[in-house]
Amino acid sequence: MEAVAKPHIDGLCEDKRALLDEIIEQNRERPGALMVVLNETQSKIGYVSVPIQHYIAKKMRVPVGAVHGVVTFYSFFTTEPRGKHTMKFCMGTACYVGGVPQLMEKAKQITGTEIGRTTPDGQLTLEVCRCVGACSQAPVVMVDDEIVGRIKPNKFPQLIKKLLES
Ligand code: FES
Repeated sequence: MEAVAKPHIDGLCEDKRALLDEIIEQNRERPGALMVVLNETQSKIGYVSVPIQHYIAKKMRVPVGAVHGVVTFYSFFTTEPRGKHTMKFCMGTACYVGGVPQLMEKAKQITGTEIGRTTPDGQLTLEVCRCVGACSQAPVVMVDDEIVGRIKPNKFPQLIKKLLES
């Protein structure tokens, strides 16, 4: 019978633990080490889940609350894998007033997914972001790295469907 790799007690598999050990070892003496380690983790693993936060806190001897604080403060970090595409809703004043909350509701309805989560097929992650500096084009969403502005509510479902299918 084939041996099944068991996750460690902290919920992380051997490969992830080894990668995290390497990231921490390479960066622990650098200024702002925690931020660097979290950045590297997000880039190489793709997310910073709660078990990963606990592991980093333990290995770097920092309070887990400090790690959690950084991860939740910066929208760059995610606690679960991002989808193939990301749609970020601008929550700056011009976009808020310009209809972004209604677009968010529409996106939730179409995808069946909450803001901050990824569709079950891994295709699309919905997030919020701060003003992206394109206020005159409100309402604005960021699709992957592209700013999409002046969104018409009746055209919006098409945009979502395109992302779900591409
Ligand atoms: S408020 Fe949305 S781009 Fe500035």
